Amino acid sequence: MRTVASVDIGTDKIVALIGEVDTYGDVHIVGVGIAKSRGIDKGSVTRLEVSARSIASAVREAEEMSGQKVGNVVINVSGPSIKSQNERDTVNISPSPVEVEQDHITRLLDRSIAKGKEDGYEIIHAVPRRYTLDDQEGIEDPVGLIGSKLTAQVHIVKVGTTLSRNLEKAVTSAGFYPTSRIASPLASAKAVLREEEKDDGVLLLDIGAGLTDFVLFLDGYPVITGSIPLAGNNITKDISYFMKVDQEEAERIKKESGVALMDMVKEDEILKIKPRGEVREVTIEKRRLAEVIQIRLEEILEKIANHIEALGFKIENANAGIVLTGGTANLTGIKEFAERFMDLPVRIGKPADLVGLKEKIEDPMYATAVGLLRFGVSPEGLISERKVAVNNNSPKVRDFFDKVKEFLREIL
Ligand SMILES: Nc1ncnc2c1ncn2[C@@H]1O[C@H](COP(=O)(O)OP(=O)(O)OP(=O)(O)O)[C@@H](O)[C@H]1O
Ligand SMILES: [Mg+2]
Repeated sequence: MRTVASVDIGTDKIVALIGEVDTYGDVHIVGVGIAKSRGIDKGSVTRLEVSARSIASAVREAEEMSGQKVGNVVINVSGPSIKSQNERDTVNISPSPVEVEQDHITRLLDRSIAKGKEDGYEIIHAVPRRYTLDDQEGIEDPVGLIGSKLTAQVHIVKVGTTLSRNLEKAVTSAGFYPTSRIASPLASAKAVLREEEKDDGVLLLDIGAGLTDFVLFLDGYPVITGSIPLAGNNITKDISYFMKVDQEEAERIKKESGVALMDMVKEDEILKIKPRGEVREVTIEKRRLAEVIQIRLEEILEKIANHIEALGFKIENANAGIVLTGGTANLTGIKEFAERFMDLPVRIGKPADLVGLKEKIEDPMYATAVGLLRFGVSPEGLISERKVAVNNNSPKVRDFFDKVKEFLREIL
């Protein structure tokens, strides 16, 4: 049985998962390790030694639980430097129609990757969207079909080189080798989104502690991938400031009594809190607390909506609505708030279809870690989402991925 391991390096926590892949390709989770994240902030390493220790501690815990030793790991990359673009490219196959081969697709991808190259950035994903073969649009997999000209849209995701290198350094300092790096929004999407949601159009938001990772899928494919440095920690800080309590008390109040939508709280509901430096508790209106939370959440959603509109896409086209995940998706009333604010259907996304130690990780805050493990299992995890290697585990496809990987290594 093959073993895969993933490490989700978050602002609040580090999660290591170890999975065993059975003959059907299903992953059984056999080890879970969770450590408080230190030396990491919003996807970046702020203290190398400390971050390496946090990573090692999460992985060791997962190793002890599973009785397996880990060497290679799939890691996430995130942070405000994550950005994406869509390239459209065409390759001329032959003047008269012939069979499309994997090599033609490789050439198409190579050209898009070359176009996406930018100083200070590394390309981590190149996801081909639906192909056009001569004049026929909407081709899902052109290999084996007859044509003379192949066109595709390719979704390119890149991340700041400094961030990426330092993250790799933290992981290697912890004693592990990062074989693949996956953008957090795509990892979370893999854990919680259903295929039909992607086809209908869906916006995934992973609202964590330091970052809100997002990805918009239209017609089955990602079109915008990104991350903004605003999330649950900002809510906690706001509560701490406005309610004059320390961070620890603010975090407790948020989780125990916080509500995301003011209207869900009755006017006479009250709450006891302990102001900073005081022994006595005081009473505050629960509605006031909800107001503080709602204002920050509105800012987060508005920023992402503006970003999407500025790139020329419409959130209304996400017919399946919004899926919320990440730790902050546990906030009471967040579904109702997002529905009201965005005027779209909203659901909370938990990692689905898990086998093994699932009780422990069936929570939105483990979406990224689970998605990373899934990426680690399939060859597509190397550089891109489905469709490139769809239906294929053939040596030919593996060769293809090796080639692309090699190519990526050369140009980066
Ligand atoms: N029940 C809850 N109600 C409100 N907030 C919650 C709840 N449970 C967790 N959170 C918040 O979720 C956040 C942690 O989320 P998560 O574990 O997804 O972050 P992370 O992955 O470590 O960080 P990031 O992805 O932002 O770098 C914290 O801000 C925490 O306060
Ligand atoms: Mg996270």
